[in-house]
Amino acid sequence: MEQTFIMIKPDGVQRGLIGEIISRFEKKGFYLKGMKLMNVERSFAEKHYADLATKPFFPGLVDYIVSGPVVAMVWEGKDVVLTGRKIIGATKPSDAAPGTIRGDLAVEVGRNIIHGSDSIESARKEIALWFPEGIADWQSSLHPWVYEA
Ligand code: RTP
Ligand code: MG
Repeated sequence: MEQTFIMIKPDGVQRGLIGEIISRFEKKGFYLKGMKLMNVERSFAEKHYADLATKPFFPGLVDYIVSGPVVAMVWEGKDVVLTGRKIIGATKPSDAAPGTIRGDLAVEVGRNIIHGSDSIESARKEIALWFPEGIADWQSSLHPWVYEA
């Protein structure tokens, strides 16, 4: 099944939103396959956001990501990349719909509490970058109650 990389950014950790965010993905019917709380080196944050290296906000973005521990996660499920982005909401919290994580819990684009892979290809790269050790191998016994097949 499809997998995505989700990261709770330092502001989400500091604000005590880890449980709230995990709960939204869990309750949806997605499966947590990898998770760690970690501090990120500058060079690692730059690698994760390499596609944005030429943007004017890039240095501030890297400062933000290294400002405290983050929670790195792999979530699995049907269409989890696209649906995960919907659960997260628009990049700018002011554009994010109520009911989304950013719409409900964030105010500023530079403090938008969570990252989610934007495509299956980005997810594959980001999971390889953040979880070189691999992820957990388990299947939920509730699977048939969430998925038709
Ligand atoms: P993310 O990668 O963190 O999930 O966010 P995203 O796809 O919704 O947005 P992206 O364009 O990839 O931007 C990455 C992060 O950079 C910060 N940002 N700041 N000041 C600005 O105009 C600006 N634009 C983007 C945000 O923290 C955004 O999540
Ligand atoms: Mg992005």
